Amino acid sequence: MSLPNTPDPAARDAIVRQDLGNVLHPIVQHKVLEAKQIVVTGSEGSTVVDADGTEYLDGMAGLWCVNIGYGRTELAEVAAEQMRQLSYFPHTAMNVPAAALAEKINGLMGGDYHTYFVNSGSEANEAGFKIARQYMKHEYPGEYRFKTVSRYFAYHGTTLATLDAGGMGERKAKFEPFSGDFVHVAPPYCYRCPFGLSYPSCGLACVKNMEAAIVGEGPETVAEVIVEPIMSGVGVAVPPDEYLPEVESLCRKYGVLLHVDEVINGFGRTGKMFAHQHYGVSPDIVAVAKGISSAYLPIAATVVKNRVFDSFYGDPTENRQIAQVNTYGGHPVAAAVALRNIEIMEAERLADRAAEIGAYLLEGLRGLMSHKVVGDVRGKGLLIGVELVKDRITKEQLDAAAFASVVDYCRDHGVLVGRAGGGRHYGTTIALCPPLVITRAECDRIVDTLGRALKAIDAG
Ligand SMILES: Cc1ncc(COP(=O)(O)O)c(C=O)c1O
Repeated sequence: MSLPNTPDPAARDAIVRQDLGNVLHPIVQHKVLEAKQIVVTGSEGSTVVDADGTEYLDGMAGLWCVNIGYGRTELAEVAAEQMRQLSYFPHTAMNVPAAALAEKINGLMGGDYHTYFVNSGSEANEAGFKIARQYMKHEYPGEYRFKTVSRYFAYHGTTLATLDAGGMGERKAKFEPFSGDFVHVAPPYCYRCPFGLSYPSCGLACVKNMEAAIVGEGPETVAEVIVEPIMSGVGVAVPPDEYLPEVESLCRKYGVLLHVDEVINGFGRTGKMFAHQHYGVSPDIVAVAKGISSAYLPIAATVVKNRVFDSFYGDPTENRQIAQVNTYGGHPVAAAVALRNIEIMEAERLADRAAEIGAYLLEGLRGLMSHKVVGDVRGKGLLIGVELVKDRITKEQLDAAAFASVVDYCRDHGVLVGRAGGGRHYGTTIALCPPLVITRAECDRIVDTLGRALKAIDAG
């Protein structure tokens, strides 16, 4: 328990000055931070507390990641104990927690996988691209299968390759040009179907579009398709149930690997341990991060099907071993913490809880359709989007200022919500991705606060 905070305005001011004078923050404009900051000094359950004593209900689990909630001091004990035992050794050797964690992940995915450890979701996807390419070199000697097919409006990470894989123009604009190794196709974003169609009469035009891209590029140049089952960055797009199985069929038809990004979707978030398990598919590569340790320590992984692993197995003279390394991969302390984190999830049945309480929150949020600016409410488990529009018929997206005012209202009333879309990215969507331990009363508070924020917009 680490919530108690004695407000100390002078100490808080000193931290803010120290920070502004020295830290370069991600994505936020420092001028904005000069005017308003959150200085987080404590946390418990689904709540974080500012140095000034203000408590915030964290509707985003940090950055979509604190799945088991804050304040699990048990994990501090696990980390301390592991540091005493073995603080670090490179993963070219073996260590006890990483072996146990890999076995746990393999079990959760059905028992036919090996795990390559990395440090972040970006790195997990990046390693996946490289594994797909190397696999193709082994399996199709003489061919040059290197492209990844991805979807517009997806987010797969912040490194150059993962950014390129993502389909968010605004995030990419300052770093162009990119390699051209990533081919983008239409997302299954049914509320704003890129083909102007409706499910089910659309016949899954988005999958046909993907097939056209694979055929058009030439399957002999394509290594893999990457999909995030429930697209979070675009504002939580839940695809039709047949979408992922049909994408998998395409991959099998053209000899292309299926790479699933479970960085946000994974570890209970959508009501099953992994989102692809809702759809009965069997991916070749799975990127996991965030919920793997509930962000208590940085750790991530690229999990590969054994038929992919087998391609990396052979006599040393064949030079088939995985051709990449990173210093911290398989870090014993992070692995020990991740393992206990997953054990907590299992003991507390947090995936089931996400399904149950997610349905409750979704139902509450659907009640907000009474506000004319709410265009759509959708989600799976505790991954939910509330899309705001100027006009329900035209679906014109809300002005940036009005959208920001909703997020700010919630924050100013003690509830942190996320934002997706805006600008060149379709839609303006309030994202909700709270810790899986969130209570019904806390869900009610989110709905109530968002409702009041929307009322202010309705009036304007
Ligand atoms: C779907 C998805 N993939 C990958 C990433 C990249 O993860 P990280 O920020 O840990 O590099 C993110 C980050 O939010 C994500 O949402």
